Amino acid sequence: MKTVLPAMVLLIAIAATANAQVPIAGKGDTMRLDAARLPQPMKANYERMREKCTKCHSLERVLLPFQTGITPITMQPFDMDTVKSITFNMVRKSNGKNYPISKDEAKSLSALLKYLLDESVR
Ligand code: HEC
Repeated sequence: MKTVLPAMVLLIAIAATANAQVPIAGKGDTMRLDAARLPQPMKANYERMREKCTKCHSLERVLLPFQTGITPITMQPFDMDTVKSITFNMVRKSNGKNYPISKDEAKSLSALLKYLLDESVR
C-alpha cells in the first residue's frame, strides 16, 4: 500500500493536467463536448460522432479516456495507436450491426479523436 498510493496520486495528477484542453462538459450519460469551443472543421466531425458513436453506448465511453488517459473497458493506455485501433474496431462493429459508417465518415471521426488527443497532451 505504501508504494501504490503515491503512484496512484501521481497518475491522477498527470491525467488531470494532461487533459486540461479537451472541452468536455457534463458527466455520466450526459457527458459531451462543448462544440462552441471546437474549431470550425471539427464541429461537423463532432456532429457525425454524436450521430454515429452513440448507437450502442453514450459519449462518456468515447470521451472518458481524454480525462483518464486510459480506455474505459479494456484499460489500455490511450494514445495515437489506441485511437487508430479503436476507430477501426468501432467502425467494424457498427457496420456489422447495420449502422453503416462509410470510409469518409470513419476518416472524419478519427480526425476528431486525433485532434482531441493532440489537444489533451499540450
Ligand atoms: C455497434 C455498437 C457500437 C458502436 C456503433 C460504437 N461502439 Fe464503441 N463500443 C462498443 C462496445 C460493445 C464496446 C466494449 C468494448 C469492445 O467490445 O470492444 C465499445 C467500447 C468503446 C470504447 C472503449 C474501448 C476500450 O478499449 O476500452 C471507446 C473509446 C469507444 N467504444 C468509442 C466508440 C466510437 C468513437 C464510436 C464511433 C465511431 C463507437 N464507439 C461506436 C460498441 C459500439
